[in-house]
Amino acid sequence: MSYELNEVLLSEGVIKDRVRELGRQISRDYAGKELIVIGVLKGAVIFLSDLVRCIDNSVKVKIDFLAVSSYGASTKTSGIVRIVKDIDSDIKGCEVLIVEDIMDTGLTLSYLYRLMMERQPRGLRICVLLDKPDRHQAEVNIDYCGFTIPDEFVVGYGLDYAGLWRNLPSIYIVRPSM
Ligand code: XMP
Ligand code: MG
Repeated sequence: MSYELNEVLLSEGVIKDRVRELGRQISRDYAGKELIVIGVLKGAVIFLSDLVRCIDNSVKVKIDFLAVSSYGASTKTSGIVRIVKDIDSDIKGCEVLIVEDIMDTGLTLSYLYRLMMERQPRGLRICVLLDKPDRHQAEVNIDYCGFTIPDEFVVGYGLDYAGLWRNLPSIYIVRPSM
């Protein structure tokens, strides 16, 4: 089956405004502190790079990345989460913020949360650009959420289908092409 871009769900301007708000909120919450921002590759790259530039200089920001196994060329989760690339930093005693593109079933984030907690950070929070509440299977506390979206497969602004469309500045719904 092949997929095609359908309508725009979130435009470039709408995303930009919301990312700026999230950056302000994070700046207030972490003012005077050091914060390690961990991006989940590859989907969170675009969001993270915009978000950290909206965190002001009252926060000492460091950036790290990890990668987990992805969906492959499918729009359904396998339910199996595997670390493909770990972070370089030692997060023990540090304030840490995991940045992810989307919470779908929540399996990825619940796994990552538990894994990072084992390393004894001082604080651990989660920031997602998108949340699909209709799909949740695992309980995860989201501290910062950009948008709540319906149960549709979306691409753009870092999100992909089979590796494609991450570069689009807006977020689109994809549907099977007729
Ligand atoms: P779970 O189910 O573990 O999944 O919360 C999180 C990961 O699934 C991918 N995902 C999507 N990717 N459009 C995408 O491009 C979507 O609509 C979508 N829903 C889930 C994504 O990689 C996320 O990290
Ligand atoms: Mg992802």
